[in-house]
Amino acid sequence: MSNVDAVKGTSAYEVESMSRRDFLTTVVYGAVGAALSFVLFGLLRFPKPALFPDIPKIFKIGRVEDFPVGAEKIFEDKKVIVRRDAGGLFAISLICTHLGCIVSKHAGLFECPCHGSKFDENGKVKIGPAPKALEWLKVSQLPDGKLIVDTMRKVPIGTRYAI
Ligand code: FES
Repeated sequence: MSNVDAVKGTSAYEVESMSRRDFLTTVVYGAVGAALSFVLFGLLRFPKPALFPDIPKIFKIGRVEDFPVGAEKIFEDKKVIVRRDAGGLFAISLICTHLGCIVSKHAGLFECPCHGSKFDENGKVKIGPAPKALEWLKVSQLPDGKLIVDTMRKVPIGTRYAI
């Protein structure tokens, strides 16, 4: 029996209800597909903010005389802040330890614009969801006197360099 024969033998109500069922099935599949696409997009997107492949891992920040006691320089393109206090020179990463957004400094605190984490001036978590403190990075001096920060070398919080 062909489809035409099958339709001829049915009432208008049955034909209409089958169409409605097909329509609703299409809508449900479409909604499920859209929801899965949204979830998949989210899963693919969220782990990536922490990755900054174009940022050099080791970079120059200047010379010793550029950092007198009390100096503070933010290297926005490198996502690092460098300071010198009475204890020495130190560098702190500006990459949030939650999902990798870039924190900014407001009234002595580092604040993350993504989910509201706040860190004190040493990078310790004051308000989550960040799970741990901002990373402190190794600072050293090249033979020519220039200072470098190595973002691959994490150092304990509070590490200062008497350079
Ligand atoms: S990425 Fe900073 S709080 Fe979520």
